[in-house]
Amino acid sequence: MSAIAAAAAALSIPTSLCRSSKFTAKKAVKGGFAVSAIIGEEGELVDRKNLWMTIFEVEDPRSKVPQCKGKFLDVNQALEVARYDIQYCDWKARQDVLAIMLLHEKVVQVLNPLAREYKSIGTLKKELAELQEELAVAHNQVHISEARIGTALDKLAYMETLVNDRLLQDRNTMEFNVSTSTPSTSAESLDTVKTRHPRRSLNVSGPVQSYHARLKNFWYPVAFSADLKDDTMVPTDCFEEPWVIFRGKDGKPGCVQNTCAHRACPLHLGSVNEGRIQCPYHGWEYSTDGKCEKMPSTRLLNIKIRALPCLEQEGMIWIWPGDDPPTANLPSLLPPSEFQIHAEIVMELPVEHGLLLDNLLDLAHAPFTHTSTFAKGWSVPSLVKFLTPASGLQGYWDPYPIDMEFRPPCMVLSTIGISKPGKLEGQNTGECSTHLHQLHVCLPSSRQKTRLLYRMSLDFAPVLKHVPFIQYLWRHFAEKVLNEDLRLVLGQQERMLNGANVWNWPVSYDKLGVRYRLWRDAVEQGSKRLPFEKSA
Ligand code: FES
Ligand SMILES: [Fe+2]
Repeated sequence: MSAIAAAAAALSIPTSLCRSSKFTAKKAVKGGFAVSAIIGEEGELVDRKNLWMTIFEVEDPRSKVPQCKGKFLDVNQALEVARYDIQYCDWKARQDVLAIMLLHEKVVQVLNPLAREYKSIGTLKKELAELQEELAVAHNQVHISEARIGTALDKLAYMETLVNDRLLQDRNTMEFNVSTSTPSTSAESLDTVKTRHPRRSLNVSGPVQSYHARLKNFWYPVAFSADLKDDTMVPTDCFEEPWVIFRGKDGKPGCVQNTCAHRACPLHLGSVNEGRIQCPYHGWEYSTDGKCEKMPSTRLLNIKIRALPCLEQEGMIWIWPGDDPPTANLPSLLPPSEFQIHAEIVMELPVEHGLLLDNLLDLAHAPFTHTSTFAKGWSVPSLVKFLTPASGLQGYWDPYPIDMEFRPPCMVLSTIGISKPGKLEGQNTGECSTHLHQLHVCLPSSRQKTRLLYRMSLDFAPVLKHVPFIQYLWRHFAEKVLNEDLRLVLGQQERMLNGANVWNWPVSYDKLGVRYRLWRDAVEQGSKRLPFEKSA
């Protein structure tokens, strides 16, 4: 691509228009400029006067910037200023690119064979050297403009999150006022509040509702591969239904309903023989696709129990509980390659999975809640922020060296920088020499039960893997930390069931939790495009 075509492409001008174009900048707009060009084949006999075509007009946005000197800006004014900031950068960048285009034109003119006849080689060289210098300056200017635009966009993203936080607060202030101005003890008054403010305003209160069918249309990790031997089973509830996972004859895992077709006996109380699960009551045997293959003492009937799509990947067993056809790809939950997995722990917890996710996606509680474990001795920072792009579900905690991500539908990934065991040092994870990587999977078992799959990896001390009984130690630590959270989350759940809104007053450090709730609301409402999705 030629330089002019490249510049044109950068400015979104169809490159076909640039076959033979002469550019010029005209002062056409008050406080701005316009770029015009003659379009046509080289050497064509054309009336050039009539062929000047304006490619774009760029107005200097500075003339319109709101004058707010010395005033306190409200969020809308501040956004407006940021918007003009970006427009100005854009205007500047276009000017810079235009300067380069004009310089290129000059170079072409200098090298023009006709012009060469009248100039000595020395003059040509000098002119070219000068032009090269000018070009270098112009290119530098473009880089500066790029940086300026980057900063302005960051500023806009930050302001957008401020506005979102503010809107959330306003919504919740309204909601709080409504609920405090009416008696909130009767079911009727709570219903009234809910009708006026639909769930989108983050009202997470009242009895835990049945899970929405749309939330089931995802791949869910249910067990670690290491926990599923050839002759063992893993029973698990998922979305309020009992399932049991076992390996078939080919070693591949299968997931069938944990209820015998004959008389509803739990199958996991039986055994696995030659890739079939055997009911402990009358011995009926089912394969991983749910087909009953043996019925001792009676004629074999054609019976099948429900089975879910089930796959194994990277040390985990996944199921697809939804009615939609399963998607082809499973997300990867492995830590980066420099990490080694040290612990895989499963816990059944008596709280709704959303409440547990809210808790895991929050770090601001650490110096208050985890005073006997990992946050022992932490001071309380004057400001805790979760820094993230405006559209992301991942970011990092300021001032802690901790990166965090919510991975739909129910996973939390975090990387913690630890320079010394048990000590947090440095402002970001990149500054730390050693790290701990955590995966928390919060499987929705039933309305008030979560199956938690926890995987812990380290990028140092591989020798720890070989320390005898270390698994017990890791489990002890994990349970101790979780118990510090659990008593609080259980209390929240109890109040939620009685009508309290667990998201009554979100503040800026609640950003990631709030985004999870917005994502979940959008899934349940059937939104075509889910918020905060990574662009493909
Ligand atoms: S209940 Fe399972 S075989 Fe009878
Ligand atoms: Fe916690």
